Amino acid sequence: MKAVIPAAGLGTRFLPATKAVPKEMLLVYDRPAIQYVVEEGLASDADEVVIVNSHGKKAIEDHFASDADLEALLRERGKHAYADSVESVGAMPVKFVYQDEALGLGHAVLCAAEETADEPFYVLLGDVLVPGNDMLPAMQKVSDEHGGASVIAVMPVPDEEVSRFGVIAGVEVEPGVWKVDSLVEKPPLEEAPTNLAVFGRYLLTPRTMELLRDVKPGVGGEIQLTDALDALLREEEMYALVVSPEDGFDTGTPESWLATNIALAKRAS
Ligand code: UTP
Repeated sequence: MKAVIPAAGLGTRFLPATKAVPKEMLLVYDRPAIQYVVEEGLASDADEVVIVNSHGKKAIEDHFASDADLEALLRERGKHAYADSVESVGAMPVKFVYQDEALGLGHAVLCAAEETADEPFYVLLGDVLVPGNDMLPAMQKVSDEHGGASVIAVMPVPDEEVSRFGVIAGVEVEPGVWKVDSLVEKPPLEEAPTNLAVFGRYLLTPRTMELLRDVKPGVGGEIQLTDALDALLREEEMYALVVSPEDGFDTGTPESWLATNIALAKRAS
């Protein structure tokens, strides 16, 4: 089973910073955002972490490459803790595949199809952090309890923010676990079936990859993962695990990135 991390997006909402620095490389408290995500993938039962990158975002690859010269220099200067941190990040087993045009999240996931083969796979958005590394195991447990079904993480959002998110409709089958009937993109509050927003962690069956191949470009000309999940829902059961706002952080906008930095810094102090 693979953990797929899409990280090839344009980071438009961070421009002009993301002209030169990939959004996923922005520092969150003490390490680049994507390092948390890779650590989470490695801590899970996935046997490999696959980053979907674009050739224009080389800094991500540089971060996970070994740097023997820097390490040696730091050791020579007695800075062993820093040398260890350089060594450990360079030794993280990460594979790269490429999406050279940002054609949407669905398309990015599809770029990893050869890697996931016919197995279920995780998708971890490269700008969404789960520092406790405990969400994927909880999702796997729900999947195991429901015949290997797909499971998506959802987070309650305040009513006034519902219209900014994709939310689920469905029924709660046990505390904190919903059987999903449909996904509703950015509903006005009065039409929102729930306030449970799709959060950026997915455990998906191999059928999702097949369905993604047939998804036509939707909003903004992008191939949306949500469209493949809609198609999947017509064929298979899908569950949603409700996660708490303290467990996960979206760093996709300057405001949410800053709030995440503050939250993690407070947690560390
Ligand atoms: P986002 O929509 O948050 O990232 O996608 P983005 O597209 O880079 O941001 P904006 O909207 O332009 O500001 C969530 C994750 O999916 C990746 C992104 O890199 C991010 O980590 N992604 C998105 C891709 O890999 N390819 C895409 O075509 C789109």
